[in-house]
Amino acid sequence: MLKANKRVLCVGVVCVDSIQVCKDFPLEDSDERSIDHRWQRGGNASNNCTVLARCGQACEFIGTMSDDLMAKFAKQDFEKENIIIENVVKHNIYETPFSSVIINSKNGSRTIIHSNKGMPELTLEDFKKIDTNQYHWIHFQGRNVSEVSKMLAHLKQRNTKYPGVTTSVELEKAREELKLLLPLADVVFIGKDFAKFQGCKDGFDALQRNIGLVKMGATVVVAWGESGAVAGTTDGTVVESAAFLSSSVVDTLGAGDTFVAATILCLSQGRGLKESITTGCRVAGAKVTKAGFSAVNPSLISDHMT
Ligand code: FRU
Repeated sequence: MLKANKRVLCVGVVCVDSIQVCKDFPLEDSDERSIDHRWQRGGNASNNCTVLARCGQACEFIGTMSDDLMAKFAKQDFEKENIIIENVVKHNIYETPFSSVIINSKNGSRTIIHSNKGMPELTLEDFKKIDTNQYHWIHFQGRNVSEVSKMLAHLKQRNTKYPGVTTSVELEKAREELKLLLPLADVVFIGKDFAKFQGCKDGFDALQRNIGLVKMGATVVVAWGESGAVAGTTDGTVVESAAFLSSSVVDTLGAGDTFVAATILCLSQGRGLKESITTGCRVAGAKVTKAGFSAVNPSLISDHMT
């Protein structure tokens, strides 16, 4: 299979986001009307796939799913967006993870209350059943550290025999155990919450702190919201991109997932690090100007650097 025909696989969680768009952030114990509401398929890896698919990249989501009402909604939406889910592992006795999200229409901020009532995580055994030859890039949501570490180790071993699958992982949440994933992937995305938890004050600080902890030859990409992104490699290369700020920010839910997906897409096409993170910032900057992922389209990915 030619590299161009291969898929990007995103490993992680799918949930349903119940979104209320409010005029202002609500007061505690008040009874207010929102100005809009919707259900949206969510979860970092699931959102990464939405962006990849919308940019024209063949992609697949793998994780665990139920068959309840919410799962049916998520499945239909995966199909609508042309995202393959043929290797998803079913756990029908559990409920689909669910988030209640308040979007403040004044500034597009998103406040997320997430609930997961014990949906089992994907295991190494589940992961080993897939034919990894179908993919040229496999991205992991940084969670389920014990199993994800084994999946990355499994891919490393496989790559010594059949090179060609690039791996990436996103460390987003403020959780100590995520640092165990740092030395295991080819590209490590560091989110602002994780970096702040480490005590970092900005993207450069986060790059400096983590570059020595990744494997030789790996890349670290740090996203810092309105300050843009910084990236570097273990050979000392450092690049940065400003954020693409807009005066009308309506929906920041999934902006970080958008940055990660667009950057992966560019890197997987062999584009340079600076161009890739700049494109990531551009696509994320466009995403926040419209509700959901409706602003994401292939023209945002096409070569703007020449
Ligand atoms: C956005 C998101 C939402 C989900 C939440 C889970 O990045 O994936 O879609 O509700 O994070 O933490």
